Amino acid sequence: MAPSPRAASPELESMMKESADAVNKTIRHLLPESDLPEAPLYEAMRYGTLNGGKRLRPFMVCQAAKLFGVDEMRARRTAAALECLHSYSLIHDDLPAMDNADTRRGKPSTHVEFDEATAILAGDALLTFAFEVLSNEETHADPRVRIELVNMLAVAAGGHGMVGGQMLDLIGEGEEFDLGTISRMQRMKTGKLMAFACESGAVLGKAGEVFRRALRNYAYDLGLAFQVTDDVLDVEESPSVLGKPANQDEAAGKSTFVSTMGKEQAKQRAEMLVEQAVRHLHVFDGRADTLIELAYYVLERRA
Ligand code: IPE
Ligand code: IPE
Ligand code: MG
Ligand code: MG
Ligand code: MG
Repeated sequence: MAPSPRAASPELESMMKESADAVNKTIRHLLPESDLPEAPLYEAMRYGTLNGGKRLRPFMVCQAAKLFGVDEMRARRTAAALECLHSYSLIHDDLPAMDNADTRRGKPSTHVEFDEATAILAGDALLTFAFEVLSNEETHADPRVRIELVNMLAVAAGGHGMVGGQMLDLIGEGEEFDLGTISRMQRMKTGKLMAFACESGAVLGKAGEVFRRALRNYAYDLGLAFQVTDDVLDVEESPSVLGKPANQDEAAGKSTFVSTMGKEQAKQRAEMLVEQAVRHLHVFDGRADTLIELAYYVLERRA
């Protein structure tokens, strides 16, 4: 077995860029421009999804799917559906009633570029559109696979997942959470969608439970590390590098790993989580090296 990489390589960057271009093309195809009277809705949906972003979750979907020889078009549709849902979560996260952030991905947030009502509706429409894409037979010929994807994404994105995590995030502005509660909140906010990203590749490939569990656990640990790093970057990086406002968490009084254990310990925690994430992939016996590198990228990233 080849030794596992301990840092992200330049090749990873070009692979991520290529994957982002492919998924952007799929999103553009799925969300065409509209000349209907309600066209501003479609403009805002396109703006909120095609405005940049690292496309990390789509990369996870496609890399996990590749492990099981899944057709690329199916993987890309699943990746695009997830990215639509993730983009909705960001559009709503930036609203004045939530984080009140004026910039996202280096551009005005969707509610700034359009207006609040349009941003709310664009988010709603992107959320439901994700399920429209997953349930379409072009995503997979087997309806059992499609229903499993729909069910998994609904659970990951809803009250027991991302939305529940966002609720905790807001409650955490008014009270101080302990570490256990913060970990649970971050796993829900960020870990659940990443777990969908990785496990959906295995579902598309009808993979067995051992591989599914390995990918799911990798993504949970990595998702938590990702959110801890996001919280560190919030205090360390400039808005121009982040493409979104900085120092938002402390200003809002949020409960984060940084607020509870300080920046240095939070960084150590993220490193530990990444090591833990990578260990779950040993069942792939060297075939999942790109996902291993991706875990180190999560630690190294500055935006
Ligand atoms: C931002 O996610 C929200 C968090 C979970 C911290 P990303 O950092 O993946 O945002 P984009 O998609 O690259 O803009
Ligand atoms: C948002 O977390 C995570 C979501 C589920 C949308 P943050 O509020 O920390 O994300 P950023 O920093 O605005 O990207
Ligand atoms: Mg938030
Ligand atoms: Mg935010
Ligand atoms: Mg943040």
